[in-house]
Amino acid sequence: MTHLFQAFDITKRFGGLVALDKTSFHVDEGEILGLIGPNGAGKSTCFNVVTGTLRPTSGRIELMGQDITDAPPFVTARLGMARTFQHTTVFPQLTVRENIEAACYLRAKAGLAPALLRTPGYRADQASLDAAVDVILRTVDLKQVEGSRAKGLPYGYLRRLGIGIALGTDPVLLLMDEPAAGLNPTESLEYAKLARRLRDSGITIVIVEHDMKVIMNLCDRIVVLNYGKKIAEGRPDEIRSNPLVIESYLGKSRDETEADHA
Ligand SMILES: Nc1ncnc2c1ncn2[C@@H]1O[C@H](COP(=O)(O)OP(=O)(O)O)[C@@H](O)[C@H]1O
Ligand SMILES: [Mg+2]
Repeated sequence: MTHLFQAFDITKRFGGLVALDKTSFHVDEGEILGLIGPNGAGKSTCFNVVTGTLRPTSGRIELMGQDITDAPPFVTARLGMARTFQHTTVFPQLTVRENIEAACYLRAKAGLAPALLRTPGYRADQASLDAAVDVILRTVDLKQVEGSRAKGLPYGYLRRLGIGIALGTDPVLLLMDEPAAGLNPTESLEYAKLARRLRDSGITIVIVEHDMKVIMNLCDRIVVLNYGKKIAEGRPDEIRSNPLVIESYLGKSRDETEADHA
């Protein structure tokens, strides 16, 4: 059986530091995969490498059976990968709606000339773009603030806007880097619900998260990294009782989580 996504033996070195050390994992269509591990374990690097922001030092990456090892981010985006960042990046001067519109342009079929000439093709494109933006605004529950500038938004809204922007490219596979960081418990629960809704709408999800309650409740499967190496992989109940995981991560995860958010 072919997996939706597969990474084979990926290594990423930064000078003498080995951030990812022959890490292999796969993602199956329709699942929510958790990627966990202590600070500095290589989780964000893993996202950077698989989306093409960074090139792996060695290894091979496949999306839907296609080799994407050396594909830059705009190519992985066109092939259906999107990500949200640990620190949300938005255009602060644009409105919520404009931020999502900008993200949607990758999927617009007509080029610039029809847009300038206002051809019928352009108008049809614009109408379908408007409809797509509306769907995303409702999905991330930001329709009511679509006209507000991103700049002044409360933090929880900004995080949801980050997801809306990622949805702009109509992804098959969505990678979320610490989506619940800095959210209060109610917002975290909302976030988990949103992730589930996205999965139910057909998007496969990989999520990096420190909040063990969120991870254990949300994920179908979990991959654990430690010093760039995969040390465990399995269902939440298997991970929770894995001695190596407890020793290297779970046993001290509460302290670390507090330190991270300090
Ligand atoms: N661009 C970079 N240049 C040099 N070192 C980096 C870079 N990005 C990450 N690292 C290092 O790689 C290791 C893994 O970092 P990271 O992937 O951010 O971990 P995590 O997201 O699991 O906390 C850390 O030691 C970090 O300092
Ligand atoms: Mg990180």
